[in-house]
Amino acid sequence: MTNELPLHLHPHGSSPAADGTSPAIARAAEGARATAQVGAGLAREQKELPSRFFYDARGSALFERITALEEYYPTRCEREILETRMPAWADRLRARTVVELGAGSAAKTRLILDALVGSGTLRTYVPVDVSGEFLDSTARGLRLDYPDLAIAAVVADFTGPFSLPADVPPPHLVAFLGSTIGNFAPPMDSALLRGIASVMQPGDHLLLGTDLRKDVAVLHAAYNDAEGVTARFNLNILNVINQRLGADFDPSRFAHRAFYNHELHRIEMHLVARSTQVVNIPGLPATHIAAGESIRTEVSCKYDRASVTELLTSSGLALVDWATDSEGWFALSLATPISDRA
Ligand SMILES: C[S@@+](CC[C@H](N)C(=O)[O-])C[C@H]1O[C@@H](n2cnc3c(N)ncnc32)[C@H](O)[C@@H]1O
Repeated sequence: MTNELPLHLHPHGSSPAADGTSPAIARAAEGARATAQVGAGLAREQKELPSRFFYDARGSALFERITALEEYYPTRCEREILETRMPAWADRLRARTVVELGAGSAAKTRLILDALVGSGTLRTYVPVDVSGEFLDSTARGLRLDYPDLAIAAVVADFTGPFSLPADVPPPHLVAFLGSTIGNFAPPMDSALLRGIASVMQPGDHLLLGTDLRKDVAVLHAAYNDAEGVTARFNLNILNVINQRLGADFDPSRFAHRAFYNHELHRIEMHLVARSTQVVNIPGLPATHIAAGESIRTEVSCKYDRASVTELLTSSGLALVDWATDSEGWFALSLATPISDRA
């Protein structure tokens, strides 16, 4: 892989600031991009917000609590697959660099790092995440526990332009865990994976976590936990938008709703307005929200082997191994760029 990921690329080893753009201008550009994205989402007939805005330090901490909930099976299932398969995969991959998109706490990633350190190949780990404060604390913990690894954290929105550090020795393993890909509805899912595939080199692999289709009651419980942690996580998106964009959402005037959309094979999370209201965001027209109207905050697509294979193929990637947990609820796919197999 080159050191540029994934959709809009900066020159080798550079950052926006190194390109001559001052950090203040880069921040202003990100602010304008965020406002434009939020404005476009709220202008749609089905209002929506980009799910990356869930994640400030509080949102990331709430997500961590979700992963420990009894109802939230994906983390448990993905961990089981990593425990079972990672030792053999490490021998096969011989990766010297792991780049992880949406790393979060990197708790499960430790199984990947342990296996690759055990095989004697791993040198560098690059966790990428939009939640800067949380990522810093993840990186600090990893540096203590893996003193021989270079841990180079990158705070970035992986749907936009960002650069990897200059020193990321091949072969690379790109880890995209937690079924975060499922938060991107078609065609964004394929665009994102195509961007990743385009910077991978022969010998590189993608390790993709995908949540699988299953009994709807199991899915429903996972997104409507009894303790209400997912509801708090969902509402936190409004706090983040208030803080980042100066909006005046009142979270107490919204209720959490999550349901399975059978036709599109996905969980949808919404915030339903408890009353008619007007929300103001600097730089955008006032948003009128009727009582009972909802804002979609997240989709979480659910897959089967055929749909994962199709997604990978349409993104220029070939499935080379597939593993599920013992319930068959979650899958990890190993994939390579298609040109690699020619
Ligand atoms: C569903 S969580 C998964 C976390 C972890 N990989 C796991 O498997 O438990 C999604 C992670 O991706 C990060 N994230 C979401 N959207 C992002 C974006 N557009 N750019 C960078 N990171 C993002 C979030 O901050 C969060 O840590």
